[in-house]
Amino acid sequence: MCGIVGILGQADVARELVDGLKRLEYRGYDSAGICTIVDGQFGRRRAEGKLKNLTARLDAEPLKGRSGIAHTRWATHGAPTVDNAHPHIVGDVAVVHNGIIENFKPLRDMLLAEGRVFLSETDTEVVGHLVARELEAGKSPTEAVAEVLPKLHGAFALALLFRNDPDLLIGARLGAPLTVGYGDGENYLGSDALALAGLTQRIAYLEEGDWVVVRRASVEVFDRDNRPAQRPVVSSGVSATITEKGNYRHFMQKEIFEQPLVVAQTLHSYLKPLQGQVALPIPDFDFSGVKRVQIVACGTSYYAGMVASYWLEKFARIPVEIDYASEFRYREPVLEPGGLALFISQSGETADTLAALRHAKAEGQKIAAVVNVPTSSMAREADLLLPTHAGTEIGVASTKAFTCQLAVLAALAANLARVRGKFSADDEREIVSHLAEVPAALNAALNHDEAIAEIAPLIAKARDVLYLGRGPEFAMAMEGALKLKEISYIHAEGYAAGEMKHGPIALIDEDVPVIVLAPSGPLFEKTVSNMQEVRARGGRIILISDAEGIRQAGEGTVATIEMPQVHPLIAPIVYAVPVQLLAYHVAVAKGTDVDQPRNLAKSVTVE
Ligand code: F6R
Repeated sequence: MCGIVGILGQADVARELVDGLKRLEYRGYDSAGICTIVDGQFGRRRAEGKLKNLTARLDAEPLKGRSGIAHTRWATHGAPTVDNAHPHIVGDVAVVHNGIIENFKPLRDMLLAEGRVFLSETDTEVVGHLVARELEAGKSPTEAVAEVLPKLHGAFALALLFRNDPDLLIGARLGAPLTVGYGDGENYLGSDALALAGLTQRIAYLEEGDWVVVRRASVEVFDRDNRPAQRPVVSSGVSATITEKGNYRHFMQKEIFEQPLVVAQTLHSYLKPLQGQVALPIPDFDFSGVKRVQIVACGTSYYAGMVASYWLEKFARIPVEIDYASEFRYREPVLEPGGLALFISQSGETADTLAALRHAKAEGQKIAAVVNVPTSSMAREADLLLPTHAGTEIGVASTKAFTCQLAVLAALAANLARVRGKFSADDEREIVSHLAEVPAALNAALNHDEAIAEIAPLIAKARDVLYLGRGPEFAMAMEGALKLKEISYIHAEGYAAGEMKHGPIALIDEDVPVIVLAPSGPLFEKTVSNMQEVRARGGRIILISDAEGIRQAGEGTVATIEMPQVHPLIAPIVYAVPVQLLAYHVAVAKGTDVDQPRNLAKSVTVE
């Protein structure tokens, strides 16, 4: 959600702090700030809005100092103003924070009753006051932090800088990620490996409840019981150039066009095409005892799960239930012993999904996780890790991670179908051959980019847009609507095509474009009938189908988008491309900020 960087350097650090924030800006961009120590005093610059405002502020008033912390914010407590921007300085300590201090209200009331003065509306300032209070009572910075951490409830990653000790950074993590970077005579803290990619490749991931005392010459990690702990130093493998757009105008566009490559990369570790077999990277797990699957995820990952629920039931004939992670725990789901709970997440850090994963684990479920960030909390806490190999996704709207999730989930469904005796060797071979065709089909879909761009102005003027589909394409209709909403700010709804006539059809008039996803296949005719019901009421239809579908049903539509003819299994993966491109081109036509849409953040680490 928010992004944190801390540097104890050999030279002035302001520029490197801002470079770190640039790589983290995808996590939030409501405001940004940095704080360094200059001649024994804190120096701070903060700015509302995007990082470029902070950069302009620093150009006008540069900041010296070899020790510093920095933050890019996605607002939770308090509006995105300069006063609420981090770092927060209280006395001799400056603090940046990602997450939420859930008990900040009683803590703040207690501190106010002591006569302490707050300068922001944030929960973070409470941490500053608590630490400052201990320092004022004569404690050392490490003693002060050790005293304060157990008092904080919620999810947080913190980095603290101390005015009287420019060779010290203290970090802490509970429920939000934090990494330590190791340099030569320098050391760092960062929200993730990407934050530190321009500084070092040698990093250690802190565990839940850890806190860390960082100096230029040493790093000491303590666990939640304050016992010294060793966390392995690994190579991050993340290059700073990942955060460059190359020849593309936006990261989202680049990531859409990367899909054939990254889906092929992902499928490579799940299929043996020559043998016609699926081979999951968890060969030791015996799926034969699995009686039902509980899928949990948020947003786009949830829609990947929704597509998978169709595949798992159709191919593996296994009962599936799917929940939004934010709802899952609170509806007190009945989870039978021996159940498989499947969590899907690009970041592996989404707070709702992580909390649901821990709940399911506590309830004795076997935990499988489809995750794109292999070092994330979900990846580490799952019993069965099913990685996607989409590479770093920077655009806030998820695209390539989604199609990679679908590729993994299709392989999982085929695997379960075989284990449960629902697939013969021939069935498996056939499915594997269709999955192996996905990268080429994605390329063919991408070839329609220009045609899709031409349709975008039709939609850019609309106030409301409907997306219709049946079966897995219903899930894709939901995903298409989400993509459009989040980057073009146009209200959009995804509907099950057959459900329209039960109410939403009342919305239809000539101002509401209706986008119909209808690959030819078993559900085509029924979907087309629903489309005609819309057309008969003056609806302006954009049909996404293959050549055959368009030949049969394209008449009377305002536009058609042609997709390659593919097997129904892989249609949802391929049809992701036109809905992504449509949303992308509409956003470009409207001039919105495609990669950093308002109010959003890439990784949502608060509930
Ligand atoms: C939409 C989008 C979000 C995420 C959701 C879950 O384009 O990116 O809806 O899909 O916040 O995030 P992850 O997959 O990281 O758990």
